[in-house]
Amino acid sequence: MTDQKHATLPAWSGNGRRRLLVLSSSPRSDGNSRALSDAMAEGAREQGHDAVVVDLNDHVTHMLRDCRKCRSGETGKCTIEDTHGPLFSDLYLSADGVAYATPIWWYGMSAQLKAFIDRIFCFISDSEPTVEDVLARLPKKRAALILSAEESNFAARLAIVQHMSELCRYLHHDFVGVVTGVGNKRGEVASDPADPLAAARRLGAQFFDIAPTDYKLDTDRAGTVWGQANGELPAMWR
Ligand SMILES: Cc1cc2nc3c(=O)[nH]c(=O)nc-3n(C[C@H](O)[C@H](O)[C@H](O)COP(=O)(O)O)c2cc1C
Repeated sequence: MTDQKHATLPAWSGNGRRRLLVLSSSPRSDGNSRALSDAMAEGAREQGHDAVVVDLNDHVTHMLRDCRKCRSGETGKCTIEDTHGPLFSDLYLSADGVAYATPIWWYGMSAQLKAFIDRIFCFISDSEPTVEDVLARLPKKRAALILSAEESNFAARLAIVQHMSELCRYLHHDFVGVVTGVGNKRGEVASDPADPLAAARRLGAQFFDIAPTDYKLDTDRAGTVWGQANGELPAMWR
């Protein structure tokens, strides 16, 4: 990760019912993760939601550092010179839902996505002047995972799914679905016979209607699953 000129961040249109932020984390801005991200955003927009796709590689160009070295003594703010800060403050915190799109890299997520998540830490430190506002706005979002992989091996994606599940538990986010596109060359997921682009579009359309269930011992529940007004459950997990 090196210094580079940063692209301008997109903004919410201001017209949608709910806000979906899609974080596409491959450095290939014309690759498979981006194609799936665009499809999910289109599906959300078709349902009247506001959806924005961000190429993380343009905005998160540094890893987390020792906060004691890079937090400004004057403002208390992180001084790392990229646009993670505005991305987190202006888009992530104000989103109702976030889709994390990543190529599988060595059976984990991309370094760009990991760095984005790591650097949330900078904003929830007691030294951050807006920490109370951040902690009030960080929970209660919906989340989904979009994976691009060369291998169809189901187990190859389990570590990332588990990671995302734990992240959502910690942040009080509802994890509503996973779409995996199998492909290697740029855009090759369009040739995946399972049609992950359609699945991504469908998950985008259903993003805010899916009723995720995560029972606890004392959960009050009906016993039957279907026939209730609970939206579609994510059959596109694969
Ligand atoms: C550094 C690196 C590591 C990779 N590791 C894996 C892997 O562990 N499993 C896999 O299925 N594909 C792996 N791939 C292939 C990519 O996941 C695949 O090409 C994907 O479609 C790329 O998505 P993108 O076009 O969004 O970058 C790897 C690719 C790279 C560049």
